[in-house]
Amino acid sequence: MTIRIAGIGTSLPPTIVTNHDLEQRMDTSDAWIRERSGIGERRVSGVTSEMGLDAATKAIEDAGIGAGDIDFVLLATCTPDQVIPATSTQITRGLGLTCGSMDINAACAGFAYGYAAAFGLMLAPGGPNRVLVVGADAMSKVVDWTDRGTAILFGDGAGAAVLERHEQGDLLGQDFGVAGDLREILYCNHADTIVMEGREVFKRAVRAVTQSVKNALDQAGLTPSDIDVVLPHQANVRIIEAVCSRLDIPMEKTHNVLEHTGNTSAASIPLAMAAANEAGALQPGKIVVMTGFGAGMAWGSVVVRW
Ligand code: UT7
Repeated sequence: MTIRIAGIGTSLPPTIVTNHDLEQRMDTSDAWIRERSGIGERRVSGVTSEMGLDAATKAIEDAGIGAGDIDFVLLATCTPDQVIPATSTQITRGLGLTCGSMDINAACAGFAYGYAAAFGLMLAPGGPNRVLVVGADAMSKVVDWTDRGTAILFGDGAGAAVLERHEQGDLLGQDFGVAGDLREILYCNHADTIVMEGREVFKRAVRAVTQSVKNALDQAGLTPSDIDVVLPHQANVRIIEAVCSRLDIPMEKTHNVLEHTGNTSAASIPLAMAAANEAGALQPGKIVVMTGFGAGMAWGSVVVRW
């Protein structure tokens, strides 16, 4: 008996900011943003707990279960509604649950961390039978809307997955790490606003993700050619292309949403997962890699048999 994903849900706030909208506010252009990042528009004005609860409700429905069947909630976020109490408690409250819950902050890598943590909890003696893993971030509230280096990239959203015990599905390999000496290349200042050295993050991200996927595959006894589906953190399509080229993975195996969402931090992997699911790519037995990186610098990859 192992663990599979039984249901997936997503949520995006209704307000759209297009690249053309940004052209009115700062010295940038739709052409530059698309060419340098692959992003065309993003959603804003989301509230982390509300988006998380909405995605969670849909994932539970997709799993064909009731909220009462969930016995642990993990919320990956770096933009909690407030610091105390944990934002995950707003999701358990909304679902009418009193099971355990906690927030995980591994920035944009948060969903991969949450996925592996859920596995560990479920396999421990007396562990939960079903864990709801949610990735939700309201990046628009920490973006400096006068800084063209960051405002063009980020957006709000949430994605959720229900993990349950089942004979189908497995976690085959995992790799996690942080480079704390690179904390200063991406952080929130005292005004709670993102400060980023974009070019440096880009370079480090490509290296870290490439190595992390390799490490997780090694652990699984697999090679890049065994991968059927890649669900990468959606920060910049050029980062995804660079990683795929280094690992010799065709871009067709990746599933991407960033053109319409921008970088939604912890939500981006489950949003990509929902897109892959809609495309029919997530069939039982497929080898799926989820990989993310972000502030910390934290990175994480999991290799999963669907
Ligand atoms: O989850 C992790 C979060 N962060 C990331 O993943 C960010 C990683 N970094 C990136 O995605 C890219 O570095 C950016 C998209 C942020 C920037 O792209 P780039 O290709 O690294 O551009 P750059 O910073 O090297 O800037 C190139 C030029 C510069 O002008 P000069 O010096 O060549 O004259 C910039 O001033 O583009 C200029 N520029 C812009 N022009 C129009 C920078 N931002 C903009 C902009 N619109 N928004």
